[in-house]
Amino acid sequence: MNDAEALKKIAGEAACEFVKTGMRVGLGTGSTVKYTVLELGRRIAEEGLEIVGVPTSFATENLATEVGIPLVELGSLDDLDIVIDGTDEFDPSFQLIKGGGAALLREKIVAQQSAAMVVVADHRKQVDCLGAFGIPIEITPFACDVTVSALSSLLNCKVELRTSEGKHILTDNGNCIADAQIGPSITDPISTEAMILNVAGVVQVGLFNNMCDAVVLASESGVSTLMNPDGRL
Ligand code: A5P
Repeated sequence: MNDAEALKKIAGEAACEFVKTGMRVGLGTGSTVKYTVLELGRRIAEEGLEIVGVPTSFATENLATEVGIPLVELGSLDDLDIVIDGTDEFDPSFQLIKGGGAALLREKIVAQQSAAMVVVADHRKQVDCLGAFGIPIEITPFACDVTVSALSSLLNCKVELRTSEGKHILTDNGNCIADAQIGPSITDPISTEAMILNVAGVVQVGLFNNMCDAVVLASESGVSTLMNPDGRL
């Protein structure tokens, strides 16, 4: 395991401290929270932890099933106690950019239903100003080129549909995904989110504002938990 992978593992596993028996847990998507899912599976098998999980993607659903986490439909619960998820960037106000793995819509629905959100990350995700990663935006396949061009004019930056082998990548919801290369310039992520959501054809945007309560952060010097002073934990 290389150093970057080791940091993901440390952060992903450490976040499991937030999970107690009886909780209803949102399970995020990505290469960091993968380690949270694996560790929760281990605790269920070896320590008798009792939880139910709601996955945010088919990939997480498959992994959680493999490791024995009982899964339920989000609609069968009133709400969730906690969601643990990765991020592509977080800023000093705990605002996030997510969607590098194209799971942002389900991730945001699950986060919205959760009483708390814990993010797992390594130090490369910590930024002063959001935007260097680009903003992932889920859009309808219908007239996706028109929506991309409207977004490009609105944001005054390059916006490109994500592709693989010349074909549009489709999300688990059957939508397209575009990335806005806005640069590290998002000083007001709340208004940027609202502006993007106002474009017809946009299904959801990967700006997660006022959702994150804590970041479990791994770096070469170890793991620490940054608590959002305005958060719910
Ligand atoms: C999935 O769509 C994303 O929001 C991920 O949670 C995010 O990209 C972080 O993923 P990694 O932990 O793989 O960097």
